Amino acid sequence: MPIATEERNLNATAQLAAAVVPAAGRGERLGPGAPKALRELGGVPLLVHAVRALARSRAVGLVVVAAPPQGVAEVAALLDSHGLDGKDVTVVAGGATRQESVRLGLAAIPAETEVVLVHDAARPLVPVEVVDAVAAAVRAGAEAVVPAVPLADTVKRVEPQPAGAPEPVLETPDRSTLRAVQTPQGFRRAALAEAHEKALDGEAQVTDDAGLIEHFGGRVVVVPGHEEAFKVTRPLDLVLAEAVLARRRATDGY
Ligand code: CTP
Ligand code: MG
Repeated sequence: MPIATEERNLNATAQLAAAVVPAAGRGERLGPGAPKALRELGGVPLLVHAVRALARSRAVGLVVVAAPPQGVAEVAALLDSHGLDGKDVTVVAGGATRQESVRLGLAAIPAETEVVLVHDAARPLVPVEVVDAVAAAVRAGAEAVVPAVPLADTVKRVEPQPAGAPEPVLETPDRSTLRAVQTPQGFRRAALAEAHEKALDGEAQVTDDAGLIEHFGGRVVVVPGHEEAFKVTRPLDLVLAEAVLARRRATDGY
């Protein structure tokens, strides 16, 4: 009964989330060197850590990496050479902006997939519990889910001035209502794909995917993130990431 088998397989695929990993950035703020996703942490590229963190989740069946356009073959070979828990991994060419990279990654996901996660290659140490919780919240009915943590610093909105010039403060938002958002962010695939298509006119330029859903009037909810899901952005973040990894290797045989 080949048809029944195919239908079962289709259902099994639709049940599992697909993850898109934008990894096509240069990493300007990290300073000179290889593209950020290929910089090493504990001897392993950031991208490999990030893909492993997703592949470790039982909720994830497929990972699509959006690589630097000139580095698709190199990234595919790199991921091939690292064990990834038997999960399917596809590499596509990313774009000039994070938004474009995510859109190109989404295009490589089977249409029957219901849940999609978008995770920065630059967040190598996200705990699998965060991946699971985000996927579960979408499964449970949310259209868009973002993991986030409370802010440690007080935040002020200012009137930006040329570098170094004093900037007038406009307001101090109540910190208890602010959250710093992380990835993976989770979505109903159709909703995120539609938002990315609508944004093709270039009018909605956002720094995260949930921002696109918000822009078009959708509802986004926040679930608890984790301090170890921080983004490697500046050189100091790499120092912190090395320390977290060393602690994990010492205490949980990671
Ligand atoms: N990204 C991408 N395509 C781009 C730009 C960014 O896929 N054209 C990805 C990055 O590779 C990263 C994630 O988006 O995994 C988050 O972006 P960010 O931390 O800003 O990384 P970069 O853009 O590489 O760093 P910078 O802004 O310092 O240059
Ligand atoms: Mg960037």
